[in-house]
Amino acid sequence: PANIQWGGRFSEATDAFVQRFTASVSFDQRMYRQDIAGSVAHARMLKTAGILSADECDAILQGLEDIRADIEAGTFEWSVELEDVHMNIESALTKRIGLTGKKLHTGRSRNDQVATDIRLYVRDEIDVIASELTRLQTALLALAEREADTIMPGFTHLQTAQPITLGHHLLAWYEMLDRDYSRLQDCRKRMNISPLGSAALAGTSFPIDRHFTAEQLGFDAPSRNSLDSVSDRDFAIELAACGSLIMTHLSRFSEELVLWTSAQFDFIDLPDRFCTGSSIMPQKKNPDVPELVRGKTGRVHGHLVSLLTLMKSQPLAYNKDNQEDKEPLFDLTDTLRDCLKAYADMIPALQAKKDNMYLAAKKGYATATDLADYLVKKGLAFRDAHEIVGKSVAYGLQQKKDLSEMSLDELQQFSDIITDDVFAVLSLEGSVQARDHIGGTAPNQVRSAVATCRELLEQR
Ligand code: ARG
Repeated sequence: PANIQWGGRFSEATDAFVQRFTASVSFDQRMYRQDIAGSVAHARMLKTAGILSADECDAILQGLEDIRADIEAGTFEWSVELEDVHMNIESALTKRIGLTGKKLHTGRSRNDQVATDIRLYVRDEIDVIASELTRLQTALLALAEREADTIMPGFTHLQTAQPITLGHHLLAWYEMLDRDYSRLQDCRKRMNISPLGSAALAGTSFPIDRHFTAEQLGFDAPSRNSLDSVSDRDFAIELAACGSLIMTHLSRFSEELVLWTSAQFDFIDLPDRFCTGSSIMPQKKNPDVPELVRGKTGRVHGHLVSLLTLMKSQPLAYNKDNQEDKEPLFDLTDTLRDCLKAYADMIPALQAKKDNMYLAAKKGYATATDLADYLVKKGLAFRDAHEIVGKSVAYGLQQKKDLSEMSLDELQQFSDIITDDVFAVLSLEGSVQARDHIGGTAPNQVRSAVATCRELLEQR
């Protein structure tokens, strides 16, 4: 025949270029484990349905097992003529076990086969990505606990705003990742439905048992509509969306780490093993890992747009367009795994330069809000207090003095209700300790948030 898989109808062989152009085996072979798992479940089901004999089923299972071993040993010969992972494995099976191999595809199509494979693949990847997230979150909790009392400037508009604790800042990153984790679990739950048995698009005339295959493959249930099941790639888009947010978060951490390692901030030190030097400037130590993670955000966001665009005009049901879902999806999961691994390895090794952070918090009138709050507690309206403190800051800028460096006389020029107790309020320690409520920056609150989060992590 002109083509081994569908030669019957054709009078000439596929053009050599078209063969290469339409083949996906170079990249979809990485789904071989999922493809074999799907075939094993399908074969077992065909046996219980009386479509395959017990001997035939055994031969198929043994054949598939041997093929898996060959692939893992690197001795399997992938062929572009056989187009994709599905036909490569099926044809190898027939070569091995003879005629019986040709019966495996009964009641099945590559359309439900590939839909099953990708779901299984995405599910496996979600689990790996989720466990990397947990590892990074665990590292952040340990660091936050260690740095619960470390004072640094907090910023808005990247201008010094109020003193905060480094532990509090680290817990903000933790929260972003916590939402990412829960989004991944949502995505996993929605995607864990079995398309197997949908066949090409309409179902099959064989007496198949879709509950059986769904259960064998660890799916929660068989899908309700065969047309939707073979054409749906929402789960890939959802994972790309979750991944895009994860990368947005890692990119924001990265930006801060890059700033913080600069000589101008000098807040932290990253160990040499996570940095690289310059081939020309001998003094350089560059934060390459955070920079690269920030850079890789672009490709992940790009994959989300690729997948959305790939799907946007497809009529029901399966179309070959769908073959284009794999490369973005694979690169997306590889990138997420790598970036999360880099962060989970690097974060525990981050060293805070506490003295520099403290000095930086002392500059920039970080306790001006505390002075205003102090005046309000003494009976002024907040807007009047704001005005008075604004004037004291203007005076400080002129005299090159922080609020805490002014004498009581100097402060009293702006309001005579200021008394000696103001200095406790103007200190950085006093400022962070005062914000002692749930979600606040006080060291106490950081420690108790760490404890709460740790309990939640343990329940995962
Ligand atoms: N390689 C194809 C894909 O990735 C498998 C399904 C092909 N089905 C078909 N009827 N052409 O989507």
